[in-house]
Amino acid sequence: MDLKKLLSKMTLEQKLAQLTQVNANCLTVGASEDITGPEQEVSLTKADVASAGSTLNFENAAEGIRVQKEHLELDPNKIPLLFMHDVIHGYKTIYPIPLALGASFDTDTVEECCAMASEEMTVGGVHVTFAPMVDLVRDPRWGRCMETTGEDPYLNCDMARAMVRGFQKSGKVAACVKHFAAYGQSESGLDYSATDMSERTLRDFYLPAYKAAIDEGVEMLMTSFNILNGVPSSGNKWLVKNLLRDEWGYDKIVISDYNAFREMKALGFCETEKECAKLAIDATSDIEMMSPCYLQNIPQLINEGVVSEEQIDEAVMRVLRLKEKLGLFEKPYLYADPKAEEEICLCEKHRDIARRAAEKSAVLLKNDNVLPFNKNAVKRVAVIGPFADRVMLGNWLCHGKESEGISALTGIKGLLKNAEVLYSKGCLEGVNESDCSLVEEAKALAKECDAVIICAGEDYKMSGESMSRAELRLSPAQKTLIREVGKVNKNTAVVLFSGRALVLTDIIDDINALVLAWQPGTEGGNAIANLLFGEVNFGAKLPMTFPRSEGQIPAYYNCYRSSRPYEGPYGCWYIDMPKARLFEFGYGLSYTSFEVSAPELSSLTMNKGESIEVSVNVKNVGKMAGETVVQLYIRDDFASLARPNRELKGYKKIFLNAGEAQRVIFTISEEQLKFWSINNKFEAEEGSFTLWVNENGIVNETDGVKFNLLSKK
Ligand code: NOJ
Repeated sequence: MDLKKLLSKMTLEQKLAQLTQVNANCLTVGASEDITGPEQEVSLTKADVASAGSTLNFENAAEGIRVQKEHLELDPNKIPLLFMHDVIHGYKTIYPIPLALGASFDTDTVEECCAMASEEMTVGGVHVTFAPMVDLVRDPRWGRCMETTGEDPYLNCDMARAMVRGFQKSGKVAACVKHFAAYGQSESGLDYSATDMSERTLRDFYLPAYKAAIDEGVEMLMTSFNILNGVPSSGNKWLVKNLLRDEWGYDKIVISDYNAFREMKALGFCETEKECAKLAIDATSDIEMMSPCYLQNIPQLINEGVVSEEQIDEAVMRVLRLKEKLGLFEKPYLYADPKAEEEICLCEKHRDIARRAAEKSAVLLKNDNVLPFNKNAVKRVAVIGPFADRVMLGNWLCHGKESEGISALTGIKGLLKNAEVLYSKGCLEGVNESDCSLVEEAKALAKECDAVIICAGEDYKMSGESMSRAELRLSPAQKTLIREVGKVNKNTAVVLFSGRALVLTDIIDDINALVLAWQPGTEGGNAIANLLFGEVNFGAKLPMTFPRSEGQIPAYYNCYRSSRPYEGPYGCWYIDMPKARLFEFGYGLSYTSFEVSAPELSSLTMNKGESIEVSVNVKNVGKMAGETVVQLYIRDDFASLARPNRELKGYKKIFLNAGEAQRVIFTISEEQLKFWSINNKFEAEEGSFTLWVNENGIVNETDGVKFNLLSKK
């Protein structure tokens, strides 16, 4: 297709239509009806909707084919629509939420999950997924922690790359990295609130994962809702034009978030929608999602000579290029196929991938000789709690349905063919539920069973967009349930469902075994059964610090050092609680134990431009085979700017049989030692560094090994 020729035939209105995205529900209400509902909300006319260049959130392949056909009949240039959707952790087969995937520290699994979602959405007629979301998080009050892979830039970069590879490797789907930039640092953990941070923090911690996705070839980028240092991202010329396009060389589509151009008015950044349009186009934002600022104002801005048609042409070309790359001009329905959608979605192979991912991402947080339960010895098992009989899909569940998934209760029943598995709800799901009237019944059941599983935590509807929480504790009713049941049966394990780090301080001592299942998706129940009964071992680690109290937030491991780190008068401490967080980043137990030897370095000095190796011997000294994550942390001891306490600079997920040992080798290069320096560029500074290697995130200062970075030879 000669795109330049096509562009030259298009009127300005037709070009602007390519830059406008409408919600699928605008197209399903019927073109002849009066303007009501979604179009009215965003002031789009029926004609705007009919001519738009892309849509979001279609129901299925058949509906997509119908709409594409109607669109092509009307469109004078026969330019097919791009269908986009939030395929965040699965299309119909839902795998664990991204935060859980972060805990897996397993990029192969993550890539496999995204490839599976990509396959399902392809036959479902979707061309673009609004994923990966790579916003770094340090505040678990924010509901969207569930969509990220956690608090660490190194891990987030790896996960971002794996997700882009998984979604895009078939060449049939485009991924869209979001939300650019630093949306995860919204003040007070409140969604849509402002982000304020130094450029240094932005560059060192928050930006790397977007950049990693771009370097991996992501086809699209979504700007964020938030204000960043005073400027909303949709109209942030420094962020989008200067940094993203000019500095990073990104020349693909930039799409706004939902209605975000227009919301620049509410943010007090623009007085009129015309100004919104001007600032957005000057920032080189391309597609406007669900608002009409471009459509309704660009013609006038061009007439006034303050926006040029070349600016519009550049944006339109980016959209046309993607349409061509995906093959839409040749095959407007592409791979949309209702029959294949029926066959492929939720097939055994995909369920198997989802189950393995859930097994690989669950974290064992505590185990005082309770787990694994003995599958052959238990005769009566109680499965209790508000989420025991629920399929915890996770928010952003796309076309996933609870009715198509496996609850913990069903999974355990399926595994234990010869035991009686009994259920009691224990209490209701509510975030502040205090009615304990169901606890007695649960207690009576627990008394008569030889193993008890309590499924507690937060409902998946309590995390996700706009789901901020001021308090992160379990509900009073859940706490009573856990305490009371634990008193009558010590052989009790708690399975915790959550889309963020929770505050468990006031209940942890009442729990003998604690499994963090996150929001595990369609096959969660089977994974939980396999883990609790030792069919598989735990190997995941926390991608996010669990604070002792909301007062410790932001709680993250790679913070700066304090001049007075001690707890005590004039120390950097809280007078009313220990300083240590409840569970650190990188923490997680296993049914076996691993020993990690002291790190050995190939050299205690390293010249710039060269690399050294650090190796450890890791041995499975327990009785069961299992995986663990060997983690390398490095600290820049002294620099022209204070550097964090320690930073993850490498990790390896390894599997060892009982008694088996493996040499794990990391390569340290100059690249890993770089930071946004006093000279405003990424560079490594000569001098002393300390490193640690462990498999549980716990670092003892005295175990550190030092090396020196020297100038180039
Ligand atoms: C708003 C969300 O912030 C974004 O992540 C999502 O992709 C869009 N809505 C489209 O649903």
